[in-house]
Amino acid sequence: MTGKLLGIDVGGSSIKAGVVDIAAGKLIGELISAPTPRPATPDAMMPVIAALAARLPEATGRIGLAFPAVVKHGRARTAANVDHAWIGADGASLIRRTLNRPAVFLNDADAAGLAEMRLGAGRDTQGTAIMLTFGTGIGTALFTDGRLFPNTELGHMELNGMDAEKWASAHVKAVQGLDWHGWIERVNVYLERMHAMLWPDLFILGGAISERFNDFEPLLRSEAEIRPAQYAGQAGVIGAALAAAEMG
Ligand code: BGC
Repeated sequence: MTGKLLGIDVGGSSIKAGVVDIAAGKLIGELISAPTPRPATPDAMMPVIAALAARLPEATGRIGLAFPAVVKHGRARTAANVDHAWIGADGASLIRRTLNRPAVFLNDADAAGLAEMRLGAGRDTQGTAIMLTFGTGIGTALFTDGRLFPNTELGHMELNGMDAEKWASAHVKAVQGLDWHGWIERVNVYLERMHAMLWPDLFILGGAISERFNDFEPLLRSEAEIRPAQYAGQAGVIGAALAAAEMG
């Protein structure tokens, strides 16, 4: 499918939206965003999503909704950084009810990984690749020979007696005032642990912080190749729209 589709990426602190040119695999115009409402319940979020969609009228039809939770058979099954009222919610039905448009609902890191593996930093990569998104939490997406193994939740792998994302996310870097050195030491430990279990050929580091890759690249260490995400903070929106283009 070609055309222009709306991608929406829900995060713990903001909800981003953009119109994606599916054939070119890139945004048309700017990403727009709004703060994630608190509490981040479905009832509070749907009007925010509707308002963002109304500001992007050039995309009609299907919507891709990337969400920071495990999504199984169309329903959110976890809610680490959003309100627990999301557990069990069917995101595509909520979009249909609110905007009267068909939608696909998927994990945010899986969406970001699709964008990077199809068109970005991981395109044409064989073997095993792990996409990481550093934001409020840590999202992960696992690919072998370009095929997604959905809903890996490696941000919740235990490190130092806590969830990895509570120790090494971009949010933790900001809140604890870690410098590049302090933060990347944590990221290195995390990459090493994942490498010991999954032996990836490639890590793709994503999230808005990957725009600063050149600043911290010299500090990174891994047996696997490490590349910055090409779409950085846009990957979730682009991947959500790509998933919408592919929905049956
Ligand atoms: C969630 C994941 C999500 C990641 C990034 C984690 O807390 O459990 O599903 O992909 O945050 O948003």
